[in-house]
Amino acid sequence: MAVPIYRLPSFFPLLAIFFAFSTFLASTEAYDPLDPNGNITVKWDVINWTPDGYVAVVTLYNFQQYRHIQAPGWSLQWKWAKKEVIWSMLGGQTTEQGDCSRYKGNIPHCCKRDPTIVDLLPGTPYNQQIANCCKGGVLNSWVQDPVTAVSSFQLSVGAAGTSNKTVRLPKNFTLKAPGPGYTCGPAKIVKPSKFISADKRRVTQALMTWNVTCTYSQFLAQKTPTCCVSLSSFYNDTIVSCPKCSCGCQSNLNDPQSCVEPNSPHLASVVTGASSRSSKNNVAPLVQCTSHMCPIRVHWHVKINYKEYWRVKITITNFNYVMNYTNWNLVVQHPNFDNLTQIFSFNYKSINPYGTINDTAILWGVKFYNDLLMQAGPLGNVQTELLFQKDQSTFTFDKGWAFPRRIYFNGDNCVMPPPEAYPYLPNTGSKHGVTMFTMLLLISLTLLSFHHLLT
Ligand SMILES: *[C@@H]1O[C@H](CO)[C@@H](O)[C@H](O)[C@H]1NC(C)=O
Ligand SMILES: *[C@@H]1O[C@H](CO)[C@@H](O)[C@H](O)[C@H]1NC(C)=O
Ligand SMILES: *[C@@H]1O[C@H](CO)[C@@H](O)[C@H](O)[C@H]1NC(C)=O
Ligand SMILES: *[C@@H]1O[C@H](CO)[C@@H](O)[C@H](O)[C@H]1NC(C)=O
Ligand SMILES: *[C@@H]1O[C@H](CO)[C@@H](O)[C@H](O)[C@H]1NC(C)=O
Ligand SMILES: *[C@@H]1O[C@H](CO)[C@@H](O)[C@H](O)[C@H]1NC(C)=O
Ligand SMILES: *[C@@H]1O[C@H](CO)[C@@H](O)[C@H](O)[C@H]1NC(C)=O
Ligand SMILES: *[C@@H]1O[C@H](CO)[C@@H](O)[C@H](O)[C@H]1NC(C)=O
Repeated sequence: MAVPIYRLPSFFPLLAIFFAFSTFLASTEAYDPLDPNGNITVKWDVINWTPDGYVAVVTLYNFQQYRHIQAPGWSLQWKWAKKEVIWSMLGGQTTEQGDCSRYKGNIPHCCKRDPTIVDLLPGTPYNQQIANCCKGGVLNSWVQDPVTAVSSFQLSVGAAGTSNKTVRLPKNFTLKAPGPGYTCGPAKIVKPSKFISADKRRVTQALMTWNVTCTYSQFLAQKTPTCCVSLSSFYNDTIVSCPKCSCGCQSNLNDPQSCVEPNSPHLASVVTGASSRSSKNNVAPLVQCTSHMCPIRVHWHVKINYKEYWRVKITITNFNYVMNYTNWNLVVQHPNFDNLTQIFSFNYKSINPYGTINDTAILWGVKFYNDLLMQAGPLGNVQTELLFQKDQSTFTFDKGWAFPRRIYFNGDNCVMPPPEAYPYLPNTGSKHGVTMFTMLLLISLTLLSFHHLLT
């Protein structure tokens, strides 16, 4: 019992302050401190004025470093300023046509005042496509692949202004991915876009361009955590598991949907039922029963200590029976990322949002090898090893230093074990120091009291 009492002070301050601070940030932040400029920009380029309106190409750019949009994809809604209609579309479609009864003969694609657009699916006939369309609304993150972080559709708008003086910009943009979380600002007229021809010999220009910027907030998304972190090390047998109830509790035993035992005979039928439901109304996870109840667990194992290097193994495990995570990514913050020497079987890019501290990295899977994190089961995990070069002035296995400060999976902050639970060195320098100090203190106190008694 004596050990924890004098260990805590040496262990606590730094990490405790850090964690208190990051919890504070997480609860109040309107933006992501690791991606402060992250946004999705929706750009409208008017490429033609028509007798009753215009033709525009609308492009979504996912400028977020690591937050992506996965299946079933984005949807974009706005409110028309007047009584505009959409005559036709390429590369996308509205989810509802609305009431077009005032039209005869030539019926518009959509007459709703607040149309909702979705991307078309892969394999759409060629004559309904345009460039960057038809990916089922999936948008990669900017770091993983800027080419697939862009999505476009084209629409021909009627009953609208027919010049840059009479056109009215659409209002109240809502971006869903597919749930809530994004807030979009008003449309702003910007300098017309320029387009370079394929052979790079001619530049054309939009007749008019406006931008809308949408930003993400985990607070608005009101999501319960979706991942947690567990820790272990070669120098201590303890495996620190994810905090209990990180993403929910098993208490709701009457609700058979809340989790599934992996050896349950009903597993197959429950999973099939949940999959068919989730395709309709979103992607509610169906997780394997664990104490943490998270769909994703990230395990950080401090594996080997060399003279000038040290090695970490990271394992990401999927506990969700109804989700294959495509293009998954992991954001990891650890001070030794400024000296990462080698990484196995994952892609890696350093991000330093503030220009100075190079301690954060994005890791993601290698295409066709492990970029797909399979549903819960024997194949539902991916792993990597990281080799760091020690900076002798800062490196230590003491005080939990070798463990990550922060981990995000697919842009969601993962729940970490409390710092006082981290595995620690059985016999560390600082512990020794404290012990020596305590011993000396005890000895001098004893001597003092002897002295006192004797005099
Ligand atoms: C959106 O992101 C881009 C790329 O990071 C950045 O240049 C731009 O300033 C951002 N826009 C806003 C309004 O933050
Ligand atoms: C509208 O177009 C005219 C040229 O046709 C241009 O001079 C003017 O600046 C444009 N106005 C806006 C608001 O884009
Ligand atoms: C647009 O959104 C704002 C804020 O969400 C709301 O107050 C306003 O009524 C909306 N406008 C329309 C026309 O729906
Ligand atoms: C408008 O959006 C485009 C594409 O994202 C971007 O290149 C351009 O800089 C934006 N313009 C402004 C003024 O933000
Ligand atoms: C995940 O992928 C595997 C193999 O492609 C497939 O058999 C399985 O049905 C997929 N699961 C889900 C939930 O989409
Ligand atoms: C950050 O560290 C990595 C790994 O050592 C290095 O490759 C990268 O150039 C560094 N980035 C900056 C901006 O210093
Ligand atoms: C990486 O480690 C070497 C060796 O300890 C050290 O000299 C160098 O300063 C470190 N680099 C950074 C960016 O800290
Ligand atoms: C390993 O770390 C745990 C804290 O997670 C601690 O309780 C335990 O005493 C340590 N084991 C040894 C052998 O030091």
